[in-house]
Amino acid sequence: MDNPARRQLLKFLAASPLLYCTAAGRLLAEESLDAIELPDYLIGSPADALDVFDFHAVAKHTLPPAHYGYLATGTDGNETLTANRRAFEQVYLRPSRMVDTSRISLETTLLGESLQSPIVLAPVGSQGAFHPDAELATARAARAQGHLQLLSNVATTPIEDVMAARGEPVWFQFYPTNQWSTAQMMLERAERAGARVVVLTVDLNSGSNRVLLGQHVRTDDRDCTTCHGTGSVEDFLRMNPMYQGSRATYANFAMADMTWDYLDRIRGATSMKIVVKGIVTREDAASAVEAGADAVYVSNHGGRAEASGWGALESLPEVVETVNGRVPVMIDSGFRRGTDIFKALALGADAVCIGRPYIWGLAAFGQAGVEKVLEMLKAELAMVMGQVGAVSIEDISRRHVGVR
Ligand code: FNR
Ligand code: LAC
Repeated sequence: MDNPARRQLLKFLAASPLLYCTAAGRLLAEESLDAIELPDYLIGSPADALDVFDFHAVAKHTLPPAHYGYLATGTDGNETLTANRRAFEQVYLRPSRMVDTSRISLETTLLGESLQSPIVLAPVGSQGAFHPDAELATARAARAQGHLQLLSNVATTPIEDVMAARGEPVWFQFYPTNQWSTAQMMLERAERAGARVVVLTVDLNSGSNRVLLGQHVRTDDRDCTTCHGTGSVEDFLRMNPMYQGSRATYANFAMADMTWDYLDRIRGATSMKIVVKGIVTREDAASAVEAGADAVYVSNHGGRAEASGWGALESLPEVVETVNGRVPVMIDSGFRRGTDIFKALALGADAVCIGRPYIWGLAAFGQAGVEKVLEMLKAELAMVMGQVGAVSIEDISRRHVGVR
């Protein structure tokens, strides 16, 4: 099944545009992506990992198909997912020799918070689908490794418990809801729990076509209703601790009528700083700053929002140029190596968030897996900084990279 000849064939087939026209082609394309990135072996402990893809392989092997599909999915034929990775190939490093790089610091600040590194945990919902310790394992790993954690609005674990496990405030990622009283209740609860920043996600308002997820669900013959219920509003509210106490009769976090004035409503309900997540164009970056965003977060939801076919790193320069230093710029979508993170910092990002890589660690080995992923990414970033002669995050600049 896993022999090199078959992989070669899949790679060849997936490169054929014709195959993208069929469902079979999409499956082949996904397997082929994995063949490029996934090792043939499974590591037995976090210490054996060479890079984050070692965790991906174990996660894929360990998770039930539907849960793996949820984690892996992009939209349509995964055009944006693929573009996110390809974008890194367009940016190259400009190494510098003979600089004293014996002391490298990853420390930085973001919205007034001191961070031990610019590597941040992106909000990923429903972590109970990946490991029984869910967001608590992530929080403990973030604490041990000293990372800022963003907690999803649809986390499996109550925000108060995550804060306690992290030992420092996490940022609260917020999905708008068409019931303002529910929105208000969640914002108040997050602030009461200690969150100082709310991250408003704005890239799923029109929904998203998650074909790969559907394909994996079809191959999963377990009875999903045991955990997921029937898919009713009551079940949704019951499964998502943040919605406890909501009287919603319609569960929807994709609010199609949200416009920029929603930031005013949030500001009226909370004193938390506001970050807007999901910006990919200069126009929206300008609008976000104008609407009073405290930071702009470049993201295409890890290729899970729309099939724009446009990599996040490719949208970064126009956002950075438009924001022009007025507020910090964060980014995620496709970051897998220290080299990737470095490239975004060199193109003007102030912090880089990662999603799937730490979830691969979580699914594979719980807290220890997340810790190792974070440790590796920091070590990789520090190594690249040494290679280009940058000893601090502040030192990293546009001159350290070229764009093809
Ligand atoms: C996400 N993401 C996400 N974003 C968000 O604002 N709220 C959420 O609840 C979730 N949930 C979620 C679940 C899963 C399984 C994934 C993979 C992603 C998107 C996430 O914050 C981030 O934008 C991407 O994961 C970044 O891309 P990479 O690092 O996964 O490529
Ligand atoms: C997702 C939502 C929860 O990407 O953000 O699945």
